[in-house]
Amino acid sequence: MKTNVALIGFMGSGKTSVGRVLAKLSGKKLVEVDSMIALTAGKSIPQIFEEDGEIVFREMEIEAIKKIASGKNQIIDCGGGVVLNKINIDRLRKNSVVVWLKASADVIAKRTCSDRNERPLLQGNNTVPKIQELLKSREPFYEMAADIEVDSSEIEALQVAKIIIEKLRQNADFNF
Ligand code: S3P
Repeated sequence: MKTNVALIGFMGSGKTSVGRVLAKLSGKKLVEVDSMIALTAGKSIPQIFEEDGEIVFREMEIEAIKKIASGKNQIIDCGGGVVLNKINIDRLRKNSVVVWLKASADVIAKRTCSDRNERPLLQGNNTVPKIQELLKSREPFYEMAADIEVDSSEIEALQVAKIIIEKLRQNADFNF
């Protein structure tokens, strides 16, 4: 039986806020992959991108997922690019139901506007057309990884979390 929920989706799709609510409602532990990477590296995600580059960041991400994926009873808030390396999804799927949080490019642009400095891939790219382009290239990866999909564009985190819980109850592989 799977006891973890792995939240995937584009930057600004609501993984962190939904993850927090979901952890509260389910009593499971919230694990933020980016926070773990930053803690291990001793520097922030933008610093890693700037000083070491994206490839090194992706290697760190693979290591973090490897450690986290074997744990139980966790809500795993994954960075938006976790799906790019298949090994991450293969590892996550062993103990986790994978939930894809979807959001429109318009909504993503609005949500990420104030904290785009925290997201190296959106620096200078926080426009609806640029987001649409990146979103389009990412969508097949999210689609392939996901067990459950929820569109968070129009609804609050609490509502999204309740929908996810409802879908998890119908999932025969999942145990609360
Ligand atoms: C990334 C998403 C970020 C972070 C890094 C790369 C991506 O996480 O891991 O900046 O490639 O989509 P969030 O999705 O939590 O913003």
